[in-house]
Amino acid sequence: MSHPSLLPGQPHVARAEGALQVEGQALQALAQQHGTPLFVYSQQWMLDALAAYRRGFEGRDALICYAIKANSSLGILRVFAEAGCGFDIVSGGELARVLAAGAEPAKVIFSGVGKTRAEMRQALAAGIGCFNVESEAEIDVLNEVALALGKRAPISVRINPNVDPKTHPYISTGLKGNKFGVAHDRAVAVYRHAAALPGLEVVGIDCHIGSQITESDPYLDAVERVLDLVQAIESHGIRLHHLDFGGGLGIDYNGDTPPAADALWQQLLARLDARGFGERRIVIEPGRSLVGNAGVCVTEVLYTKPGEEKNFCIVDAAMNDLPRPAMYQAFHRIEPVLRREGVAAVRYDVVGPVCESGDWLGRDRDLAVQAGDLLAVFSAGAYCMSMASNYNTRTRAAEVLVHGDKATLIRRRETIEDQLRTEMP
Ligand code: LLP
Repeated sequence: MSHPSLLPGQPHVARAEGALQVEGQALQALAQQHGTPLFVYSQQWMLDALAAYRRGFEGRDALICYAIKANSSLGILRVFAEAGCGFDIVSGGELARVLAAGAEPAKVIFSGVGKTRAEMRQALAAGIGCFNVESEAEIDVLNEVALALGKRAPISVRINPNVDPKTHPYISTGLKGNKFGVAHDRAVAVYRHAAALPGLEVVGIDCHIGSQITESDPYLDAVERVLDLVQAIESHGIRLHHLDFGGGLGIDYNGDTPPAADALWQQLLARLDARGFGERRIVIEPGRSLVGNAGVCVTEVLYTKPGEEKNFCIVDAAMNDLPRPAMYQAFHRIEPVLRREGVAAVRYDVVGPVCESGDWLGRDRDLAVQAGDLLAVFSAGAYCMSMASNYNTRTRAAEVLVHGDKATLIRRRETIEDQLRTEMP
């Protein structure tokens, strides 16, 4: 009898008779069909994650802009576009992607510290909803570019609220020492300057304090600090139509316990209500929490290699496919796709073929595997494929989106010809 066992954080990834499935589709069969490494995503997980945000905002004027840097594959963007989401982008390339996926330009916001003039022109021509500007210099350039096109650019200024999100230093963005946003103390002056420029139209205020945040407090602190500024800015007659609180909500990688999106937003909205801002339009930019636990990466064990101090399990996925362990010492759960009887579990470092000691996917994992077996690397929906590279001239993996009884290839495996096409010998 089959007893699918639900795994924390990933209810659509289950075992049936020992075999891992995503929404009922066997990973072994998908890997046989499409090869490895292979990313497999559950569409239902994404829709459930989105539904939790929407429950939190019920009865409010809120726009959820999926931060596509988390996973920008067109097949994933289409899911969010069809669900009516907006998008948070950080480059002209990301703008082209969301438009190709059917985004409504008015629901697109453009974040990032270093927009080029060409990107500004591209976004103005598309008619995006808001530029989140991050410096006084950028404000002046955007004003010039907009005037040259005979347009007014809608803007929010990204404020650096100087709160500690209590996350990895590389993904913490709202502290004084970070390159992001305009300092809290400068905000009023910057808004007054922007409001006086003819090529700009101030529409909102923005902040984003970091990523993989697992507590509510940093958000609540940031909200209070942003609302203080809203009051100060509006006292100069500048109306802020929307309040953008960024993204950053964490997911469960390894027993992490982030607040649920609906609970978090109800808490935050209570703060807004208490200070009389409950009617204001809210914009948010979640990335990881909409896709992170929707995905697994299936990889084949190439060799097992006993060592003097460590045993290595060498797999065909590597740091170019799954860069998070190498970059942030991130933990991703790793499990065999099929439970193997008769092989004793051994403690391994799971490593890829790339020629770097930093190329590891998991350390000190007890696994009963042998060459030819498949492993699933969990929580691989966010910041894996979108950060994948061609290092060591490895071709990027294929991606499959599962929904109900359908498994759709949304990205074919890259070929070496794809890679060489842009180069001249
Ligand atoms: N908005 C802005 C302005 C951002 O910079 C980011 C992420 C987001 C929204 C979405 O944040 P999320 O909801 O996904 O936490 N590569 C790292 C994460 C980098 C996050 C960069 N900014 C990782 O793999 O952990």
